[in-house]
Amino acid sequence: MLWVAALFLWASVSHSSGSDLQFPEWFKFGAASAAFQVEGAWNVSDKGESKWDRLTHRYPEIISDRSNGDVACNSYYLWERDIEMAAELGLQFYRFSISWPRLLPTGFANNVSEDGKNYYNNLIDGLLEKGIEPVVTIYHWDMPQMFQDLGGWANPKISDWFAEYARIVFSLYGDRVKNWITINEPLVDCDWYYGWGILAPKREYFLGPYICNKNLLLAHAKAYHVYDQEFRCKYNGKISIANHLLWMKPYSNSTEDLELTEAAREFLTGRYTHAIFSKEGGWPTVVEETVAKVSKEQGYEESRLPAFTQEEIELIRGTYDYFALNHYTSRLVRKPRASEDVVRSLFTYVGDLDAVLEMDPDWPFGYGPMMPIYPQGIREQMLWIAEQYGEDIEILITENGYSSGGSLIDDDGRISYVKDHLEQVLLTIQDGVNVTGYAYWTLMDNFEWTDGYQSKFGLYEVDFSSPNRTRTPRKSANYYAELIKKRSL
Ligand code: BGC
Repeated sequence: MLWVAALFLWASVSHSSGSDLQFPEWFKFGAASAAFQVEGAWNVSDKGESKWDRLTHRYPEIISDRSNGDVACNSYYLWERDIEMAAELGLQFYRFSISWPRLLPTGFANNVSEDGKNYYNNLIDGLLEKGIEPVVTIYHWDMPQMFQDLGGWANPKISDWFAEYARIVFSLYGDRVKNWITINEPLVDCDWYYGWGILAPKREYFLGPYICNKNLLLAHAKAYHVYDQEFRCKYNGKISIANHLLWMKPYSNSTEDLELTEAAREFLTGRYTHAIFSKEGGWPTVVEETVAKVSKEQGYEESRLPAFTQEEIELIRGTYDYFALNHYTSRLVRKPRASEDVVRSLFTYVGDLDAVLEMDPDWPFGYGPMMPIYPQGIREQMLWIAEQYGEDIEILITENGYSSGGSLIDDDGRISYVKDHLEQVLLTIQDGVNVTGYAYWTLMDNFEWTDGYQSKFGLYEVDFSSPNRTRTPRKSANYYAELIKKRSL
């Protein structure tokens, strides 16, 4: 059934409506957040500094409103209100992340913070008391600064340090947490941070991102094996990695654009998924060959893409229990035009592949120019995942969300976004794909990285000028709560 749907898809996705359908009873609804974006309390107790603490303090100019995460939503103190909101919505799960430097102030596993440990114990226990399952991300971009000073993900020791950190996390919380995500969106943490992003803008050639890419896959795999070998039989949970998948469509139906699009998918998605989810493991062939060719033309002795040993391929391959998908938006892929000045930044450019990512002028926007809305993209994306990595692969949507600007309680744009995307999710389930849940990003407005507090994804509006960071449900919060209750759109 699935392949029929997939064939159908490549021609053009069906416009049939999923709005009259019920969600299956096993389908779970949740919402997501991340430590740095909500917790604040950046230096209380013995908490260590993270790379985002350092970045925002030292280079305020890279944040559009020159803000930082020092207080954020103050969830370090207001976690009970957060749980109350999750309960008001009727969430079945709440995805949050643990701050590595809060739990391990130096980053190393030999010094566990009592206060850090208690904070997450309280949060987990409080959620469970309300019948809400905690889904826990072990790392959502807040690398301990001490490790960042040593190169962070570019340091070959980082995969061992990460696995030791993960072992502490599993041993502290594994009795109650049954769903783990090792790392959030390596694409953004590697490509943005080490490539064309904030610290090294407009760098010509990729080197840092590829080294980060490989070490991070090893870190994920080592943490997976720690869970698999030391904790799974006791606790029987699931573990995966959350990837940001930008759905890429060909600009035209020419063979050149179709091939280029498939190559672009491997460059932006496959680079972080093929090694884990494909049968053969390792880098996608097109990535390996393209980077080797370009590196040679550039006069490098060896490819800038670090090779995997056979042992590493085996270590990484199959280290998943399901596919954690973060999906927001889509792009069209085409060759750069003659003398075109390609903007080298995340989601516009594919590094070594000679391709440009462009937005369809017909796609509408929420706030900000990065996330045009194309709801069918989530279905097309999931069909691609199932086609690539196995028809029966379980997919959990760990992020999907809409950003608005300014204060806005009647957020009809967000309601349409959620409805249109969930309709596509229902259709994907009908296609035969094993999609088991959906987390809206995000529970409440929070520190939106380089957009500071200007871009707002929350179901709850947060008043960042009030000392108690008052949280107010938006219209979308009521809509989502109702949807969860009825289990239909
Ligand atoms: C990240 C979140 C971020 C969201 C919206 C995702 O890529 O995981 O941390 O806030 O996108 O930009």
